Amino acid sequence: MKKLAKMTISLLLILAILAGCGSSAPSTEGKDNTEETTKADDIITVGFSQLGAESDWRSANTDSMLEAFSESEGYSLIYKNGQQKQANQITAIRTFIQQEVDYIVLAPSTEDGWETVLGEAREAGIPVILVDRRVNAADKNLYSCWVGSDFELEGKKMAAWIKAYTEGIGVEPSDLHMVNIQGSMGSTAQIGRTRGLANAARDNGWDLMAEISGDFTETKGREVMAALLKRFDNINVVYCENDNMAIGAIDAIESAGKKVGSNIKRGEIMVVSFDGVNKTALEYAKEGKISCIAECNPLHGPRVKALIEKLRNGETPEKFNYVDETLFSSVSGVDEVVVDGQTYKIERNY
Ligand code: AHR
Repeated sequence: MKKLAKMTISLLLILAILAGCGSSAPSTEGKDNTEETTKADDIITVGFSQLGAESDWRSANTDSMLEAFSESEGYSLIYKNGQQKQANQITAIRTFIQQEVDYIVLAPSTEDGWETVLGEAREAGIPVILVDRRVNAADKNLYSCWVGSDFELEGKKMAAWIKAYTEGIGVEPSDLHMVNIQGSMGSTAQIGRTRGLANAARDNGWDLMAEISGDFTETKGREVMAALLKRFDNINVVYCENDNMAIGAIDAIESAGKKVGSNIKRGEIMVVSFDGVNKTALEYAKEGKISCIAECNPLHGPRVKALIEKLRNGETPEKFNYVDETLFSSVSGVDEVVVDGQTYKIERNY
């Protein structure tokens, strides 16, 4: 049955090429390559449902997947960009099931609402590998494994850095007037990073004045920050849940005539963020406009490929596979932070 489907698809592909309408190359600009289905039987077909293209992190993540699952490596990757909509991702998974792909890789937009479609993939006997964010499903057997970041740990590391730095310069905890520009609500990255800050604010007595989503985009980061500056005149720490939003927020702060930087005693507004992928953000971190960045590593392509290869060899990979990550900062005063008994050195060369 599967062979017949593949032969039919191959035939359609040949006819399309002969008709001069070959499929477009995959790109991180939002296009996908559903038409570019598979060829020979020895090629492994992977359907990849990416959630969107909201940030530089996401583009780097997509590129990493496209590179790892190249034809020269024996794979045919069917890439679908969900355009930030879970409904599109669900449709993509159903299409992959119809196409009888060998593996499905899902980078889920949010945590909830996947059980039905993952059940359909299981019924069809297609293993699902989760990448980056996670799904909230009571039945963990709906997917084979997951690889990505420990987002709450990222938040805890950032909070530990803020605590160490502000204690070092002698700022009272209650004098830290913070806002959190959150990522897309309900995503694992947002949930973990928000929790990391909220718990630390409660435990340390920081004044966390507002938590508002900027949807992980520069435009929304700018809009949210501009609105927050109108609402509060005492903000001195801006915790941005990714670099793109931090860039937008910095623009809004400077446009309002205020200065970004770590010298909050002299009235500067301290911005911290997550990722460490965007070049401008890394430049800002070197200049001190972003005081600290908690790394979130997007290069999951080879990691997902290694998991699929284990499955192909009949091995059972670890269920949850975490990536090691660091903190980037050029601000002096903090050389390391300790979280849950583990020491993390601050990276100065980046
Ligand atoms: O899930 C990872 C997060 O998603 C990254 O921090 C953010 O930039 C992206 O959009």
